[in-house]
Amino acid sequence: MFNNKTIVVTGGSSGIGKKITEEILAERGRVFVLSKNEKKINSLNKKYISNKKFLGIQCDISDESEVKEAFNFINKKTNHIYGLVNNAGINPSRNNILSTSLADWEDTINTNLKGAFLCSKEAIKSMEKNSQGSIVNISSVAAFGMQRRVAYSSSKAGMIGFTKSLARDHASKSIRVNCICPGYVPTNLVKSYLKDLSKKEKTDLLDRHPLGKLGNPEDIAFATSFLLSSKAKWITGAVLNVDGGYSIF
Ligand SMILES: NC(=O)c1ccc[n+]([C@@H]2O[C@H](COP(=O)([O-])OP(=O)(O)OC[C@H]3O[C@@H](n4cnc5c(N)ncnc54)[C@H](OP(=O)(O)O)[C@@H]3O)[C@@H](O)[C@H]2O)c1
Repeated sequence: MFNNKTIVVTGGSSGIGKKITEEILAERGRVFVLSKNEKKINSLNKKYISNKKFLGIQCDISDESEVKEAFNFINKKTNHIYGLVNNAGINPSRNNILSTSLADWEDTINTNLKGAFLCSKEAIKSMEKNSQGSIVNISSVAAFGMQRRVAYSSSKAGMIGFTKSLARDHASKSIRVNCICPGYVPTNLVKSYLKDLSKKEKTDLLDRHPLGKLGNPEDIAFATSFLLSSKAKWITGAVLNVDGGYSIF
């Protein structure tokens, strides 16, 4: 499906991003992963040492100079960035506004939204030169409002407006920009939250997903791969819920 096309995946060192990376590699794409934790990046680079189509780069996507440095490096290695998946995300504070510290608010917005802004800016420069590109932003069902998620919900709602603005601005250069809103997927991001739920809260959470189960990283990876690919060539500015029906209610 990707035949040597270069795709950058932020947060590809674990959870959903890791699966997205595997899916792109399985479809013969070339992947550069940007993630913050050096140890995780080193171990991924070790794992893929004989795979010339994979390279992990340690990069804090909320830091403009680190992002520029990473993309300069990628641009030296490849003629054209075809795809970008803005997947990296954090949720340090499950709180209402009164209990959300300014530091948690800023960390959340800076990683989830500013990080996508910085990476998209660099990727679009390359995409525009070739009049071709596809960006997938990973938002969340929390974008539509969720109790005690004031910072996270705001960052994820921002992702939707960001998606639609980019889609409108760059359509004339054949750059498509779409957004996925996942429901609950048990990854490091939500593990401790899920572990602390009472039995009743767990049942209620499952009931919120009419298909009767939480998601797998591959559920998000398959949808991402489709939107990235030319099979979705007439889709831009879309917001796709991949959530077992969570958002039907
Ligand atoms: N899991 C869910 O239920 C769920 C639901 C809806 C939406 N999402 C969204 O899906 C995306 C992936 O989350 P996940 O569930 O797979 O969580 P995860 O396993 O915790 O993965 C998060 C990834 O983001 C990276 N990251 C965090 N801060 C970064 C930074 N400043 N710079 C670069 N990389 C950074 C992490 O890398 P390091 O470890 O190296 O920092 C990690 O690879 C997130 O945007 C999340 O909001 C998840």
